[in-house]
Amino acid sequence: MEYSITAEEFQQFRTLIYHESGISLSEQKKSLLASRLSKRLRDLDLTTFSEYYSTVMEDRTREEFTRLLDLISTNKTDFFREPKHFDFLRDRILPELDSVKRIRIWSSACSTGEEPYTIAMTLYEGVRDPERWDFKILASDLSTRVLAKASSGIYDNDRFRDVPPDVMKRHFLRGRGEQEGVFKVKPHLASVIKFRRLNLMDDQFPIKNPLDLIFCRNVMIYFDRPTQETLVNKFHRYLKPGGYLFIGHSESLQWVTHPFKSIAPTIYQKEG
Ligand SMILES: C[S@@+](CC[C@H](N)C(=O)[O-])C[C@H]1O[C@@H](n2cnc3c(N)ncnc32)[C@H](O)[C@@H]1O
Repeated sequence: MEYSITAEEFQQFRTLIYHESGISLSEQKKSLLASRLSKRLRDLDLTTFSEYYSTVMEDRTREEFTRLLDLISTNKTDFFREPKHFDFLRDRILPELDSVKRIRIWSSACSTGEEPYTIAMTLYEGVRDPERWDFKILASDLSTRVLAKASSGIYDNDRFRDVPPDVMKRHFLRGRGEQEGVFKVKPHLASVIKFRRLNLMDDQFPIKNPLDLIFCRNVMIYFDRPTQETLVNKFHRYLKPGGYLFIGHSESLQWVTHPFKSIAPTIYQKEG
């Protein structure tokens, strides 16, 4: 059974979600929200969305709010999604850094981890002497559920359809016996990634040293223009001069005021 949500209740959730996560839900998302949250109401034995709203607001641990965001956010992702970005990393950025052999990357809405593991595979595959390089990737997301999956590093075989088999073999271990059909990331790949829960709406991020590259793909699409603008300008502060920002292929900064130089569609560079 699906519970019905009043216009007032929808407005309450909409405001809360926008304020806390930047996700902007249009009027058309009313029934989507109701259907995504109905099971949670049932599980908690609640009968109205107002009761659920009070439950979320009264939970000091904020666990219920995290759960609410998990239910409404879209976590779709893939290994080697939008491959042009990984080609650019391999062909342009890695050669630029070859003299220092050090790279710092932030995958800022990493979902279940396919993006940061793809970045790490691109780093290992893209340089001649990976053992002499210092690779570090910060991978973050708002959702604790996706982060738990990401840090487990375990994926079903069918998730790897876009990973060349030899690359997969170098970086993932095949499960045996009861684990048949699943693959686990190898320690060398896992060791260059640190997973952390971070909200892109925060004023500051716990990043001390300037970054070479930020991935912020397929999340800004859920934000309105002022939120996108604030975020992109925040990213600018965390990049080195000459550092890059990658956004999703269906996203654009065309209507956003920002200080970046556009290098290619969805690729931006901090000048300097
Ligand atoms: C569609 S996934 C994108 C995954 C990956 N970047 C890609 O392109 O394949 C969007 C992710 O953004 C996360 N997200 C939404 N709002 C966020 C916020 N305010 N801060 C951090 N992550 C957020 C969601 O939890 C979700 O995992």
